Amino acid sequence: MRLNVPLLGSEEAEAVADVLATGYLTQGAKAAEFERLVSELVGVPHGFATSSATTGLHLALVALGVGPGDEVVIPDFSFPATANVIVQQGATPVFCDIRLDDFGLDAAALDAAIGPRTKAIMPVHAFGLVADMGPIMEIARRRGVPVVEDAACALGAIYHGRQAGSLGDAGVFSFHPRKVITTAEGGMVTTSSDQLAERLRILRSHGAVRGEHYMSFVDAGFNYRLSDIHAAIGVVQMRKLDAILSGRRALADEYAERLAHIEGCGRPPLLKGVRTRISPMSCSLTTT
Ligand SMILES: Cc1ncc(COP(=O)(O)O)c(C=O)c1O
Repeated sequence: MRLNVPLLGSEEAEAVADVLATGYLTQGAKAAEFERLVSELVGVPHGFATSSATTGLHLALVALGVGPGDEVVIPDFSFPATANVIVQQGATPVFCDIRLDDFGLDAAALDAAIGPRTKAIMPVHAFGLVADMGPIMEIARRRGVPVVEDAACALGAIYHGRQAGSLGDAGVFSFHPRKVITTAEGGMVTTSSDQLAERLRILRSHGAVRGEHYMSFVDAGFNYRLSDIHAAIGVVQMRKLDAILSGRRALADEYAERLAHIEGCGRPPLLKGVRTRISPMSCSLTTT
């Protein structure tokens, strides 16, 4: 069974054809436009389009200096990519309990999961339900540990008036076809930190710094860029975001209504202040 059918039309096809006609196919003006649209929505100054959320999560961890021997605290319920990127850095994922109502990292269990080797905390906004970021950030700040939101499924979700992806030190979105909007494959790292942005920019593209006349390669970076072909799809999809979100909310309402009579099948209550993008699968929705 397909979990989601992306809302694609002739506009996306035309946008791709336009990019092909320019002959400029790698990361360029379209990616910059897509980054601007997403970071404006999220309400942060920086957005870095990546080839997937997985590469975006990896990039964020490397930019934060996570390496061998370090620990990163994550919820014990997520897609494997959340833990895989930690293992790829030679670090250890430390699994922390989730809350059973919203499936998010349980702040009550977080303090005990943080130790002297903890280099980052990565809460996940499961199915677009924003984790209870207030207490999570309070603990993270008190313990001096940076936070990367795995917001893969949460574009457009709001926590007390702030968008997912703007609540931690960095946020990472996915644009896989099963997510809110799609670029086929793709991701984006968002941040308000100029310092982190500088690291992300360099590491995303071969460790290169562009000078006036030539490039300097200052670090061992990656090629985690999103192509302009993919970004062109994303630009069109961003125009459809409101319609996509309200369509999903209406679907979730319908699921909740039709499943209401089945014992044991309920809608997870949303935290006060949370408005979500929600997967039809998890029969939940609403705002308080
Ligand atoms: C919570 C979470 N994190 C990360 C990912 C990875 O996203 P991508 O497929 O864009 O690499 C997913 C994909 O489903 C996810 O659900």
